[in-house]
Amino acid sequence: MTRRQSKIRLNEEEREMMRNACRFNAELLDVVRPFVKPGVKTEELDRIVHEYTLSHGHVPACLHYPGGDAGPYPKSSCISVNEVICHGIPSDYELKPGDIANVDLTTIVDGWHGDQSETFLIGEDNQISDVARRVTQCAFDCLYLGIEATSPGCRISVIGQAIVDHVKQHYGFGVVDKYVGHGIGAQFHQAPNIPHVPSPVAHRERLHPGMCFTIEPMINAGTAHSVCDRRDGWTVRTQDGRLSAQFEHTILMTENGPEILTTTKNGPKQGFKF
Ligand code: MF3
Ligand code: CO
Ligand code: CO
Repeated sequence: MTRRQSKIRLNEEEREMMRNACRFNAELLDVVRPFVKPGVKTEELDRIVHEYTLSHGHVPACLHYPGGDAGPYPKSSCISVNEVICHGIPSDYELKPGDIANVDLTTIVDGWHGDQSETFLIGEDNQISDVARRVTQCAFDCLYLGIEATSPGCRISVIGQAIVDHVKQHYGFGVVDKYVGHGIGAQFHQAPNIPHVPSPVAHRERLHPGMCFTIEPMINAGTAHSVCDRRDGWTVRTQDGRLSAQFEHTILMTENGPEILTTTKNGPKQGFKF
């Protein structure tokens, strides 16, 4: 199955379906964006995601997604605050100045998936710690360095190599290797895996025109090691309790190079300084 899936190449009609799904998902992130402020409960953000998605006739891919040790995922978005690396479950937690919060959205539009995330610095500039800003900047730059490293037919490992080189040279932060980017399309998660560190499998596998995948580096201020919450079965935290940041795009490899499908109107663009 993995072998077959790893060869999925979309034709022009299918590429248009993916562009359309990702366009909606990016618009959704722009809808949520103004509400990601001090005082908002993360479950209030999730409610906006849920209602906007349903009112447009689409499906939140996260809701009831199978796989957690304690049952399927219970909400329509993932919101991962501070030491939470990924799969944070929206709750009555209120965002406060100085927090960093990753909002990860995935929508199914006409059977096709768009998946992306952004980390937000909560509050005024002078309320954000240096390390919060640096880990966020690092994750953001790693996403674009990973994308820029790809080309039609490239080895998947060029992504992890570009990320690890950058982080080692400029930061010394931990690059999470347990959770990876992924092929995406008619399924939320499919082959191939897209690791953010170089790996032997990623060295063998290639990105061919027509393949859709995500890049979603998770960067930790301290150790790369993580712990999954035993009670909820989803929330993944840094082992040392230090901050973690992430950014994600869905990307189509074309005959001419990578095409980012999840560009927002109002979010940070390549080169942005936090
Ligand atoms: N959006 C996440 C990703 O980037 C996956 C979330 S799965 C969920 O792959 F079940 F936690 F929602
Ligand atoms: Co993803
Ligand atoms: Co995601």
